[in-house]
Amino acid sequence: MKKLLTYCLPVMCLGAPLASADAVEERIDTLLETMTIEQKVGQLALRDFGTYSAEQIPALKEQIRQGEVGGFLNVNFSSVNDNAFAELQKIAVEESPQGIPLIFGQDVIHGYETIFPIPLGQAASWNPELVKKGARIAAEEATTDGIRWTFAPMIDISHDPRWGRIAETLGEDPYLASILGVAMTEGFQTDDPSRPDAMAASAKHFIGYGAAEAGRDYNAAYIPEARLRDTFLPPFKAAVDAGLMTIMSSYNTLNDIPATANQYALKTILRDEWGFDGFVVSDWNAVMEMLPHGFARDAKHAAELSANAGIDFEMYTDTYQQHLPQLIKEGKFTEAKLDQAVRHMLRVKMRLGLWENPYPRGNREAVILSDDHRQAAREAARESFVLLKNDNSILPLAPKTKIALIGPLANVPHEQLGTWIYNGNKEDSEPLVPALEQYLGGTDSFTFVQGLEYSRDTSTKGFGKAVEAAQQADVIVYVGGEESILSGEGHSRGDIALPGAQQELVKALSETGKPLVTVIMAGRPIELGKVRSQSDAIMMAWHPGTMAGPALVDVLYGEYSPVGRLPITWPKGEGQIPIYYNRMATGRPATDDNYTLIGEIEQGVFQHDPGNSSNHLDYGHEPEFPFGFGLTYSEFEYSNLAIAKSRIALGETLKASATIKNTGKVKTTEVVQLYIRDLVASRTRPIRELKGFERVTLAPGESRVVEFEISTDALAFHNQKMEKVTEVGEFELWIAKDATSGLKGRFTVYE
Ligand code: NOJ
Repeated sequence: MKKLLTYCLPVMCLGAPLASADAVEERIDTLLETMTIEQKVGQLALRDFGTYSAEQIPALKEQIRQGEVGGFLNVNFSSVNDNAFAELQKIAVEESPQGIPLIFGQDVIHGYETIFPIPLGQAASWNPELVKKGARIAAEEATTDGIRWTFAPMIDISHDPRWGRIAETLGEDPYLASILGVAMTEGFQTDDPSRPDAMAASAKHFIGYGAAEAGRDYNAAYIPEARLRDTFLPPFKAAVDAGLMTIMSSYNTLNDIPATANQYALKTILRDEWGFDGFVVSDWNAVMEMLPHGFARDAKHAAELSANAGIDFEMYTDTYQQHLPQLIKEGKFTEAKLDQAVRHMLRVKMRLGLWENPYPRGNREAVILSDDHRQAAREAARESFVLLKNDNSILPLAPKTKIALIGPLANVPHEQLGTWIYNGNKEDSEPLVPALEQYLGGTDSFTFVQGLEYSRDTSTKGFGKAVEAAQQADVIVYVGGEESILSGEGHSRGDIALPGAQQELVKALSETGKPLVTVIMAGRPIELGKVRSQSDAIMMAWHPGTMAGPALVDVLYGEYSPVGRLPITWPKGEGQIPIYYNRMATGRPATDDNYTLIGEIEQGVFQHDPGNSSNHLDYGHEPEFPFGFGLTYSEFEYSNLAIAKSRIALGETLKASATIKNTGKVKTTEVVQLYIRDLVASRTRPIRELKGFERVTLAPGESRVVEFEISTDALAFHNQKMEKVTEVGEFELWIAKDATSGLKGRFTVYE
């Protein structure tokens, strides 16, 4: 530890917690004075350990020894040494010139070894506490191995379920994604990131990645500035305001400029307007991808563009190391800018307390997959399920009901984990069949027949057995959808219907006349087509994680009422995409009675004039299920909408309330949602915008007055001059179960 002590200031030598921000900056100044250009550039090098061969490791270690590596990702995924954290760190802190610790990062997206539901599923809980707890548990587990930095939360907004990465988002709505993104950030970082079990979060992807054209991953995005500022940026701004430590830039071009070289986004917005003081990391290989983008001539040009734009930490490629010293000599980059980037790096490392706690905190056995963690994952999974249909209260099932469990995803320990599960193991998963067996005390009351080998299986050879089992049961539970590989990075689909012969299987099952419960496991909303009418009940389970089986049993058998609500609009088919609830009106707004269904056209029955309004002849204008929608095993009645003052001055707070009553038979949670519409403004405004929500748990017969307060600042948007303003005038307001219903009121904002 000799070298480490050489550069520590008294405050850290005493082992005291990090002092003031000034002390941190002084420590950075002291370090910078001692560093060569090569060592400074080395701090900006983020190496992917997983890609090194055994022969390359000695040279890599020498680079660390020279102080020319800033950190690593994927140390766990090396074929050479899968637990090199301590070994690499020891070289950095004990043998490198300044003893600056390495930072270890990884995609710890929805759990480390205890896997929680995919982020879109977590978002369906509308429960910030749950999301925060999931991130806290992930951090507790990952830090045992020495990983102090995660590439989450992913807070891209997307209106396109073809895009495979929609599974990783926290939904389509800027308000919901802001609340949940902050919760996730706080869960990872805590309010004291220097704790050895805290991780720096990295909000991603900055910016516009979710607007990939045609939902094809990595594709170009075009976003007008007002929409960028009102819809895509707010979750990032909220995370920055909450103390977010790092940000990852995105792969896409935004309005023809690669995000990796977007000075306007990375400097003007992020640094100048928002005052972000952590570091910005490029996405994996993204600096070099400016060549195929046709934006950089060569590696040197790519380094010049991204370093000048404000990318601090270069992930995977080494263009900075190869070219920044020369670019400085040529005057195309400056040492002052280099110092600034290094400052961002060191600041984060110091805030993480890496000098004080550079090594893995260990204690794996006690922490990883502990009973508490499994229980939390089970609770998160059951809160993520969204009940979409439940005719004749077919759910919950009675334990004595004889069920035929059918479907390619009914017993899938790996697939239930979802995308981005680097450290998740199927051996630790609890799938549905053993969970059912345990709950029902054996296999007497259920038969399991897969019917199809996997989701895209087109063979009908298993149908006979499946139908036979269905005929002998009281209720069919079909579990289908998509394996984890059908969503996630680089896994977009053009056709979002149930793949393979699943639709035919559901049809065959429904033709038995037995009640049919369809459970969808997938990373995106799925085009249901006739499956909707063929099923008596439909539940969206997303990819629920390690505890999918017990969580599904909890909900299917009514040990727990579903509470999830859609964090995303569910389209009827991909022809409706892009689709989102907070869309603009048109000059010819769609109405329910002026479109003709394709079935009627086919039958030659034209009952309505299709009308020249904004509809699809075949889909109409409504989605399959709206944003915010979800059923429970109870019923809730909304009444007594009250707006305390229907005229409020700019700067005042609006108070609106409604009485929510549980009129059903089960104690459960209702997610009460507040929407507004700005009726006339200097830009057109969305037909609805979510401005608040509250989860209320009520016993049968119980009612509660739910009150919302919104300041007039929350009604602001970017006007034609790109100023953020609240304009005076008339507003509508709804207290609602979802984005298409609710008790409606009105208020006026005056100057
Ligand atoms: C590429 C992905 O876009 C990003 O989200 C991820 O964090 C990095 N690879 C690192 O694995």
